[in-house]
Amino acid sequence: MAIEFRPARADELPEFRRLVAYVFAEPSPPREGAEPPMQPEWTSCAFVDGRMAATFAAYPFTMRWNGAPAATAGVTGVGTYPEYRRQGLLRALVERSFAEQRDRGQSLAILWASFGAIYQRFGFGLASTAVSYDLEPRHIAFEDPTPPSGTARLVRAEDALPEMKRVYIEIATPRNLMLHRVPAMWQGHLRQGTGAHHAAVYYAASGEPTGYLLYTTREVPNWGEPAPDQEMEVVDWAALDLDAYRGVFDYLRRHDLVRRAKFWRVPEDDPGYALFLEPRALRRRTGDGIYLRIVDVEQALAARPYAEAGALTLAVLDELCDWNHARFRLDSDGGRATVTRGGRAPDLTLPVRSLSMLASGYRSATELARWGLLEAADPRVLRLADRIFATEYRGYCPDGF
Ligand SMILES: CC(C)(COP(=O)(O)OP(=O)(O)OC[C@H]1O[C@@H](n2cnc3c(N)ncnc32)[C@H](O)[C@@H]1OP(=O)(O)O)[C@@H](O)C(=O)NCCC(=O)NCCS
Repeated sequence: MAIEFRPARADELPEFRRLVAYVFAEPSPPREGAEPPMQPEWTSCAFVDGRMAATFAAYPFTMRWNGAPAATAGVTGVGTYPEYRRQGLLRALVERSFAEQRDRGQSLAILWASFGAIYQRFGFGLASTAVSYDLEPRHIAFEDPTPPSGTARLVRAEDALPEMKRVYIEIATPRNLMLHRVPAMWQGHLRQGTGAHHAAVYYAASGEPTGYLLYTTREVPNWGEPAPDQEMEVVDWAALDLDAYRGVFDYLRRHDLVRRAKFWRVPEDDPGYALFLEPRALRRRTGDGIYLRIVDVEQALAARPYAEAGALTLAVLDELCDWNHARFRLDSDGGRATVTRGGRAPDLTLPVRSLSMLASGYRSATELARWGLLEAADPRVLRLADRIFATEYRGYCPDGF
Protein backbone atom coordinates (compact mmCIF):
# COMPACT_ATOMS: atom_id res chain seq x y z
CA MET A 1 0.00 0.00 0.00
CA ALA A 2 1.60 3.28 -1.13
CA ILE A 3 0.58 6.39 0.83
CA GLU A 4 1.29 9.87 -0.44
CA PHE A 5 0.56 13.10 1.45
CA ARG A 6 0.16 16.26 -0.62
CA PRO A 7 -2.29 19.05 -1.43
CA ALA A 8 -5.04 18.33 -3.93
CA ARG A 9 -4.39 19.71 -7.41
CA ALA A 10 -6.98 22.04 -8.94
CA ASP A 11 -8.33 19.19 -11.08
CA GLU A 12 -8.71 17.07 -7.92
CA LEU A 13 -10.89 19.60 -6.08
CA PRO A 14 -14.14 17.97 -7.30
CA GLU A 15 -12.97 14.68 -5.74
CA PHE A 16 -12.07 16.58 -2.55
CA ARG A 17 -15.66 17.97 -2.51
CA ARG A 18 -17.11 14.49 -3.16
CA LEU A 19 -15.21 12.97 -0.25
CA VAL A 20 -16.25 15.74 2.13
CA ALA A 21 -19.87 15.58 0.90
CA TYR A 22 -19.86 11.81 1.48
CA VAL A 23 -18.52 11.87 5.05
CA PHE A 24 -20.94 14.65 6.06
CA ALA A 25 -23.88 12.96 4.29
CA GLU A 26 -24.57 16.02 2.18
CA PRO A 27 -27.14 15.80 -0.58
CA SER A 28 -25.82 15.05 -4.06
CA PRO A 29 -24.73 17.32 -5.72
CA PRO A 30 -23.02 18.77 -2.65
CA ARG A 31 -24.73 21.83 -1.19
CA GLU A 32 -23.01 25.21 -1.29
CA GLY A 33 -21.88 26.03 2.23
CA ALA A 34 -21.34 29.29 4.05
CA GLU A 35 -17.60 28.90 3.61
CA PRO A 36 -15.30 30.43 0.98
CA PRO A 37 -14.55 28.25 -2.06
CA MET A 38 -11.66 25.87 -1.45
CA GLN A 39 -8.24 26.53 -3.00
CA PRO A 40 -5.81 23.68 -3.73
CA GLU A 41 -3.06 25.19 -1.56
CA TRP A 42 -5.32 25.15 1.51
CA THR A 43 -5.82 21.38 1.27
CA SER A 44 -3.78 18.48 2.51
CA CYS A 45 -4.75 14.97 1.43
CA ALA A 46 -3.70 11.37 1.84
CA PHE A 47 -3.67 9.29 -1.34
CA VAL A 48 -3.61 5.52 -0.96
CA ASP A 49 -2.42 3.71 -4.07
CA GLY A 50 -3.21 6.88 -6.01
CA ARG A 51 -6.77 7.30 -4.67
CA MET A 52 -7.76 10.25 -2.51
CA ALA A 53 -8.54 8.57 0.83
CA ALA A 54 -8.43 11.34 3.46
CA THR A 55 -8.78 15.11 3.35
CA PHE A 56 -7.95 18.06 5.57
CA ALA A 57 -7.95 21.78 4.81
CA ALA A 58 -7.32 25.08 6.56
CA TYR A 59 -8.77 28.44 5.54
CA PRO A 60 -6.34 31.35 6.03
CA PHE A 61 -8.52 33.33 8.43
CA THR A 62 -7.81 36.47 10.39
CA MET A 63 -9.45 36.14 13.78
CA ARG A 64 -9.98 38.64 16.56
CA TRP A 65 -7.86 37.40 19.44
CA ASN A 66 -9.12 39.34 22.45
CA GLY A 67 -9.38 42.42 20.25
CA ALA A 68 -6.24 41.98 18.13
CA PRO A 69 -5.99 40.38 14.67
CA ALA A 70 -4.33 36.96 14.54
CA ALA A 71 -3.57 34.79 11.49
CA THR A 72 -5.53 31.61 12.17
CA ALA A 73 -5.98 28.30 10.38
CA GLY A 74 -9.70 27.51 10.05
CA VAL A 75 -9.68 23.71 9.92
CA THR A 76 -12.34 22.22 7.67
CA GLY A 77 -13.03 19.41 5.21
CA VAL A 78 -11.72 16.70 7.56
CA GLY A 79 -12.72 13.27 6.34
CA THR A 80 -11.53 9.75 5.56
CA TYR A 81 -13.44 7.30 3.36
CA PRO A 82 -14.76 4.43 5.54
CA GLU A 83 -12.49 1.76 4.12
CA TYR A 84 -9.39 3.77 5.13
CA ARG A 85 -10.50 4.78 8.64
CA ARG A 86 -8.63 4.05 11.87
CA GLN A 87 -5.34 3.57 10.01
CA GLY A 88 -3.77 6.80 11.19
CA LEU A 89 -4.39 8.91 8.06
CA LEU A 90 -6.03 11.81 9.90
CA ARG A 91 -3.34 11.76 12.59
CA ALA A 92 -0.65 12.01 9.91
CA LEU A 93 -2.46 14.91 8.20
CA VAL A 94 -2.98 16.79 11.48
CA GLU A 95 0.64 16.41 12.54
CA ARG A 96 1.85 17.71 9.18
CA SER A 97 -0.62 20.57 9.26
CA PHE A 98 0.77 22.07 12.47
CA ALA A 99 4.25 22.46 10.98
CA GLU A 100 2.77 23.95 7.78
CA GLN A 101 0.57 26.36 9.72
CA ARG A 102 3.54 27.51 11.77
CA ASP A 103 5.54 28.13 8.60
CA ARG A 104 2.67 30.23 7.24
CA GLY A 105 2.62 32.33 10.43
CA GLN A 106 -0.72 30.89 11.60
CA SER A 107 -0.12 30.59 15.33
CA LEU A 108 -3.68 29.40 16.05
CA ALA A 109 -5.97 26.77 14.58
CA ILE A 110 -9.72 26.65 15.14
CA LEU A 111 -12.54 24.29 14.15
CA TRP A 112 -16.11 23.21 14.72
CA ALA A 113 -15.91 19.53 15.68
CA SER A 114 -18.26 16.75 14.64
CA PHE A 115 -16.88 15.01 17.76
CA GLY A 116 -14.69 16.74 20.31
CA ALA A 117 -13.19 13.30 20.98
CA ILE A 118 -11.35 13.40 17.67
CA TYR A 119 -9.48 16.61 18.36
CA GLN A 120 -8.68 16.91 22.04
CA ARG A 121 -5.90 14.32 21.64
CA PHE A 122 -4.27 16.71 19.15
CA GLY A 123 -4.17 19.58 21.65
CA PHE A 124 -7.41 21.33 20.68
CA GLY A 125 -9.30 22.67 23.69
CA LEU A 126 -12.71 24.32 23.92
CA ALA A 127 -12.53 28.08 23.44
CA SER A 128 -16.22 28.98 23.34
CA THR A 129 -19.66 27.64 24.03
CA ALA A 130 -22.29 27.55 21.31
CA VAL A 131 -25.50 29.16 22.53
CA SER A 132 -28.82 29.06 20.67
CA TYR A 133 -32.27 30.56 21.29
CA ASP A 134 -35.59 29.17 20.14
CA LEU A 135 -38.29 31.64 21.08
CA GLU A 136 -41.87 32.53 20.29
CA PRO A 137 -41.96 36.17 19.16
CA ARG A 138 -45.15 36.80 21.12
CA HIS A 139 -43.20 36.09 24.34
CA ILE A 140 -40.64 38.82 23.67
CA ALA A 141 -40.82 41.33 26.50
CA PHE A 142 -38.09 43.10 28.43
CA GLU A 143 -38.08 43.53 32.20
CA ASP A 144 -37.44 47.24 31.55
CA PRO A 145 -39.97 48.12 28.81
CA THR A 146 -38.11 51.23 27.51
CA PRO A 147 -38.79 51.23 23.74
CA PRO A 148 -35.93 51.42 21.23
CA SER A 149 -34.98 54.94 20.14
CA GLY A 150 -35.02 54.16 16.40
CA THR A 151 -36.63 51.82 13.92
CA ALA A 152 -35.83 48.57 12.14
CA ARG A 153 -36.51 48.36 8.41
CA LEU A 154 -36.96 45.33 6.20
CA VAL A 155 -34.37 45.49 3.39
CA ARG A 156 -33.50 43.11 0.55
CA ALA A 157 -30.75 40.92 1.97
CA GLU A 158 -28.25 41.80 -0.80
CA ASP A 159 -28.93 45.52 -0.35
CA ALA A 160 -28.37 45.31 3.40
CA LEU A 161 -24.83 43.94 2.99
CA PRO A 162 -22.87 47.24 3.26
CA GLU A 163 -24.67 48.26 6.46
CA MET A 164 -24.50 44.78 7.98
CA LYS A 165 -20.76 44.73 7.27
CA ARG A 166 -20.29 48.07 8.99
CA VAL A 167 -22.09 46.91 12.11
CA TYR A 168 -20.31 43.53 12.08
CA ILE A 169 -16.85 45.08 11.85
CA GLU A 170 -17.55 47.48 14.69
CA ILE A 171 -18.82 44.64 16.86
CA ALA A 172 -16.09 42.18 15.94
CA THR A 173 -13.10 44.51 16.41
CA PRO A 174 -12.81 44.43 20.22
CA ARG A 175 -14.11 40.88 20.52
CA ASN A 176 -12.68 37.42 20.79
CA LEU A 177 -12.76 34.63 18.12
CA MET A 178 -14.79 36.61 15.59
CA LEU A 179 -13.51 36.29 12.02
CA HIS A 180 -12.69 38.91 9.42
CA ARG A 181 -15.36 38.08 6.86
CA VAL A 182 -14.26 38.04 3.23
CA PRO A 183 -17.07 38.62 0.64
CA ALA A 184 -17.50 34.87 0.07
CA MET A 185 -18.31 34.44 3.76
CA TRP A 186 -21.04 37.09 3.55
CA GLN A 187 -22.41 35.41 0.44
CA GLY A 188 -22.42 32.15 2.40
CA HIS A 189 -24.61 33.71 5.09
CA LEU A 190 -27.03 34.76 2.36
CA ARG A 191 -27.38 31.10 1.35
CA GLN A 192 -27.78 29.59 4.83
CA GLY A 193 -31.07 28.40 6.30
CA THR A 194 -34.26 27.12 4.74
CA GLY A 195 -36.73 29.45 3.06
CA ALA A 196 -36.76 33.01 1.72
CA HIS A 197 -33.94 35.31 2.89
CA HIS A 198 -34.65 38.70 4.41
CA ALA A 199 -32.68 41.29 6.27
CA ALA A 200 -33.74 43.95 8.72
CA VAL A 201 -31.43 46.80 9.63
CA TYR A 202 -31.99 48.72 12.84
CA TYR A 203 -31.32 52.46 12.64
CA ALA A 204 -30.83 54.32 15.93
CA ALA A 205 -32.43 57.76 16.47
CA SER A 206 -29.20 59.26 15.05
CA GLY A 207 -29.89 57.47 11.73
CA GLU A 208 -26.85 55.21 12.19
CA PRO A 209 -27.28 51.48 11.51
CA THR A 210 -26.50 49.77 14.83
CA GLY A 211 -28.06 46.33 14.48
CA TYR A 212 -29.29 43.77 11.96
CA LEU A 213 -31.05 40.47 11.53
CA LEU A 214 -30.46 38.19 8.55
CA TYR A 215 -33.12 35.50 8.54
CA THR A 216 -35.28 33.13 6.59
CA THR A 217 -38.98 32.48 7.02
CA ARG A 218 -41.10 29.60 5.82
CA GLU A 219 -44.56 28.29 6.40
CA VAL A 220 -44.89 25.01 8.26
CA PRO A 221 -48.60 24.23 7.83
CA ASN A 222 -50.36 23.12 10.97
CA TRP A 223 -53.84 22.64 9.56
CA GLY A 224 -56.65 22.87 12.05
CA GLU A 225 -54.38 24.49 14.66
CA PRO A 226 -54.67 28.16 15.47
CA ALA A 227 -52.06 30.39 13.76
CA PRO A 228 -49.13 31.13 13.91
CA ASP A 229 -47.65 28.61 11.51
CA GLN A 230 -44.36 30.11 10.31
CA GLU A 231 -40.78 29.37 11.36
CA MET A 232 -37.96 31.85 11.27
CA GLU A 233 -34.25 31.00 11.28
CA VAL A 234 -31.90 33.80 12.24
CA VAL A 235 -28.72 32.96 10.33
CA ASP A 236 -26.81 36.06 11.39
CA TRP A 237 -27.51 38.98 13.68
CA ALA A 238 -25.76 41.63 15.70
CA ALA A 239 -26.59 44.55 17.97
CA LEU A 240 -23.99 47.19 18.76
CA ASP A 241 -25.60 48.37 21.99
CA LEU A 242 -28.63 47.86 24.21
CA ASP A 243 -30.79 50.21 22.15
CA ALA A 244 -30.04 48.14 19.02
CA TYR A 245 -30.68 44.96 21.03
CA ARG A 246 -34.14 46.22 21.95
CA GLY A 247 -34.69 47.34 18.37
CA VAL A 248 -33.85 43.94 16.91
CA PHE A 249 -36.13 42.04 19.31
CA ASP A 250 -38.91 44.61 18.98
CA TYR A 251 -38.82 44.02 15.21
CA LEU A 252 -38.98 40.27 15.75
CA ARG A 253 -41.95 40.60 18.13
CA ARG A 254 -44.00 42.15 15.33
CA HIS A 255 -44.04 38.83 13.43
CA ASP A 256 -47.44 37.61 14.60
CA LEU A 257 -47.47 34.58 12.31
CA VAL A 258 -44.07 33.28 13.40
CA ARG A 259 -44.42 30.40 15.85
CA ARG A 260 -40.72 29.86 16.46
CA ALA A 261 -37.68 32.04 15.80
CA LYS A 262 -34.42 30.09 15.99
CA PHE A 263 -31.16 31.88 16.65
CA TRP A 264 -28.38 29.46 15.81
CA ARG A 265 -25.53 31.62 17.04
CA VAL A 266 -25.71 33.70 20.20
CA PRO A 267 -22.70 34.96 22.19
CA GLU A 268 -22.27 33.27 25.55
CA ASP A 269 -22.27 36.73 27.16
CA ASP A 270 -25.46 37.81 25.38
CA PRO A 271 -27.54 39.86 27.84
CA GLY A 272 -30.86 38.13 26.98
CA TYR A 273 -31.10 36.20 30.22
CA ALA A 274 -30.61 39.36 32.26
CA LEU A 275 -32.93 41.57 30.18
CA PHE A 276 -35.92 39.42 29.30
CA LEU A 277 -38.99 39.61 31.54
CA GLU A 278 -39.18 35.83 31.27
CA PRO A 279 -35.66 34.54 30.55
CA ARG A 280 -36.97 31.03 29.98
CA ALA A 281 -38.87 32.33 26.93
CA LEU A 282 -35.52 32.33 25.09
CA ARG A 283 -35.21 28.54 25.39
CA ARG A 284 -31.46 28.98 25.71
CA ARG A 285 -29.34 25.95 24.93
CA THR A 286 -25.61 25.69 25.46
CA GLY A 287 -23.24 23.27 23.76
CA ASP A 288 -19.59 23.07 22.79
CA GLY A 289 -18.45 25.78 20.41
CA ILE A 290 -15.10 26.51 18.81
CA TYR A 291 -12.14 24.22 19.51
CA LEU A 292 -8.85 26.07 19.41
CA ARG A 293 -5.24 24.85 19.23
CA ILE A 294 -2.23 26.96 19.94
CA VAL A 295 0.07 26.04 17.08
CA ASP A 296 2.89 28.40 18.04
CA VAL A 297 2.92 29.36 21.72
CA GLU A 298 5.43 32.18 21.39
CA GLN A 299 3.59 33.92 18.54
CA ALA A 300 0.07 33.24 19.79
CA LEU A 301 0.69 34.58 23.29
CA ALA A 302 2.47 37.67 21.96
CA ALA A 303 -0.43 38.39 19.58
CA ARG A 304 -3.20 38.91 22.14
CA PRO A 305 -3.71 41.84 24.50
CA TYR A 306 -3.76 41.23 28.26
CA ALA A 307 -5.90 42.58 31.05
CA GLU A 308 -3.26 43.18 33.72
CA ALA A 309 0.47 43.76 34.16
CA GLY A 310 2.57 40.93 35.52
CA ALA A 311 5.02 38.18 34.62
CA LEU A 312 4.47 34.42 34.46
CA THR A 313 6.68 31.53 33.45
CA LEU A 314 4.76 28.75 31.75
CA ALA A 315 6.01 25.20 31.21
CA VAL A 316 4.05 23.95 28.21
CA LEU A 317 3.69 20.24 27.46
CA ASP A 318 3.16 19.47 23.78
CA GLU A 319 3.80 16.00 22.37
CA LEU A 320 3.02 16.95 18.78
CA CYS A 321 4.78 20.30 18.30
CA ASP A 322 8.28 20.12 19.76
CA TRP A 323 8.76 23.89 19.27
CA ASN A 324 6.02 24.40 21.88
CA HIS A 325 7.33 21.87 24.39
CA ALA A 326 9.31 24.41 26.39
CA ARG A 327 9.28 27.15 29.02
CA PHE A 328 8.01 30.59 28.08
CA ARG A 329 8.18 33.81 30.05
CA LEU A 330 5.24 36.15 29.50
CA ASP A 331 5.77 39.78 30.52
CA SER A 332 2.57 41.78 30.30
CA ASP A 333 2.46 45.55 30.73
CA GLY A 334 -1.31 45.37 31.15
CA GLY A 335 -1.88 45.66 27.41
CA ARG A 336 0.68 44.02 25.18
CA ALA A 337 3.13 41.34 26.28
CA THR A 338 6.55 40.12 25.29
CA VAL A 339 7.06 36.37 25.23
CA THR A 340 10.51 34.85 25.45
CA ARG A 341 11.71 31.28 25.61
CA GLY A 342 13.20 29.98 28.83
CA GLY A 343 12.64 31.40 32.26
CA ARG A 344 13.02 30.40 35.86
CA ALA A 345 11.08 27.67 37.70
CA PRO A 346 7.62 27.58 36.11
CA ASP A 347 4.66 29.31 37.75
CA LEU A 348 2.23 27.20 35.73
CA THR A 349 2.74 23.80 34.12
CA LEU A 350 0.11 22.85 31.58
CA PRO A 351 -0.56 20.81 28.46
CA VAL A 352 -1.08 22.83 25.29
CA ARG A 353 -4.81 21.90 25.34
CA SER A 354 -5.21 23.65 28.71
CA LEU A 355 -3.21 26.64 27.47
CA SER A 356 -5.61 26.88 24.53
CA MET A 357 -8.56 27.07 26.95
CA LEU A 358 -6.75 29.58 29.18
CA ALA A 359 -5.42 31.92 26.49
CA SER A 360 -8.77 32.04 24.68
CA GLY A 361 -10.38 33.24 27.91
CA TYR A 362 -12.70 30.24 27.92
CA ARG A 363 -11.67 29.17 31.43
CA SER A 364 -9.59 30.78 34.14
CA ALA A 365 -6.35 29.36 35.50
CA THR A 366 -8.07 28.76 38.86
CA GLU A 367 -10.82 26.70 37.23
CA LEU A 368 -8.34 24.70 35.15
CA ALA A 369 -6.27 23.99 38.28
CA ARG A 370 -9.39 22.84 40.17
CA TRP A 371 -10.16 20.45 37.32
CA GLY A 372 -6.65 18.98 37.28
CA LEU A 373 -5.83 20.52 33.88
CA LEU A 374 -3.03 22.81 35.04
CA GLU A 375 -0.53 22.87 37.92
CA ALA A 376 0.47 26.01 39.77
CA ALA A 377 3.61 26.46 41.85
CA ASP A 378 1.65 28.62 44.29
CA PRO A 379 -2.10 29.36 44.64
CA ARG A 380 -1.39 33.13 44.53
CA VAL A 381 0.00 32.71 41.03
CA LEU A 382 -3.38 31.38 39.93
CA ARG A 383 -5.11 34.62 40.87
CA LEU A 384 -2.51 36.64 38.98
CA ALA A 385 -2.89 34.36 35.95
CA ASP A 386 -6.69 34.74 36.15
CA ARG A 387 -6.35 38.52 35.93
CA ILE A 388 -3.68 38.55 33.24
CA PHE A 389 -5.50 36.14 30.89
CA ALA A 390 -9.03 37.52 31.41
CA THR A 391 -10.55 38.52 28.05
CA GLU A 392 -12.74 41.54 27.40
CA TYR A 393 -15.49 39.35 25.89
CA ARG A 394 -16.28 35.64 25.91
CA GLY A 395 -15.24 33.80 22.76
CA TYR A 396 -17.89 33.95 20.03
CA CYS A 397 -17.72 32.85 16.40
CA PRO A 398 -20.94 33.31 14.42
CA ASP A 399 -19.45 31.71 11.28
CA GLY A 400 -19.66 28.06 10.36
CA PHE A 401 -16.83 26.69 8.20
C1 LIG B 1 -12.92 11.55 11.90
C2 LIG B 1 -12.22 10.89 10.76
C3 LIG B 1 -11.74 11.95 9.78
C4 LIG B 1 -11.02 10.14 11.33
O1 LIG B 1 -10.23 9.69 10.24
P1 LIG B 1 -9.18 8.49 10.38
O2 LIG B 1 -8.26 8.57 9.21
O3 LIG B 1 -9.89 7.23 10.62
O4 LIG B 1 -8.40 8.93 11.71
P2 LIG B 1 -7.11 8.25 12.35
O5 LIG B 1 -7.06 6.78 12.04
O6 LIG B 1 -5.91 9.04 11.99
O7 LIG B 1 -7.43 8.47 13.86
C5 LIG B 1 -6.93 9.57 14.58
C6 LIG B 1 -7.25 9.40 16.03
O8 LIG B 1 -8.59 9.83 16.27
C7 LIG B 1 -9.35 8.79 16.83
N1 LIG B 1 -10.67 8.87 16.23
C8 LIG B 1 -10.96 8.81 14.93
N2 LIG B 1 -12.28 8.98 14.75
C9 LIG B 1 -12.81 9.15 15.95
C10 LIG B 1 -14.14 9.38 16.42
N3 LIG B 1 -15.17 9.47 15.60
N4 LIG B 1 -14.33 9.52 17.75
C11 LIG B 1 -13.29 9.42 18.60
N5 LIG B 1 -12.02 9.25 18.22
C12 LIG B 1 -11.79 9.09 16.91
C13 LIG B 1 -8.62 7.51 16.50
O9 LIG B 1 -8.86 6.53 17.47
C14 LIG B 1 -7.17 7.96 16.49
O10 LIG B 1 -6.62 8.00 17.77
P3 LIG B 1 -5.05 7.73 18.05
O11 LIG B 1 -4.29 8.31 16.87
O12 LIG B 1 -4.80 8.44 19.32
O13 LIG B 1 -4.93 6.26 18.12
C15 LIG B 1 -13.11 9.88 10.01
O14 LIG B 1 -13.60 8.95 10.94
C16 LIG B 1 -14.28 10.52 9.31
O15 LIG B 1 -14.19 10.85 8.12
N6 LIG B 1 -15.41 10.72 10.03
C17 LIG B 1 -16.58 11.37 9.47
C18 LIG B 1 -16.35 12.85 9.21
C19 LIG B 1 -15.96 13.60 10.47
O16 LIG B 1 -16.48 13.40 11.56
N7 LIG B 1 -14.98 14.52 10.30
C20 LIG B 1 -14.53 15.40 11.33
C21 LIG B 1 -15.22 16.71 11.09
S1 LIG B 1 -14.91 17.93 12.27
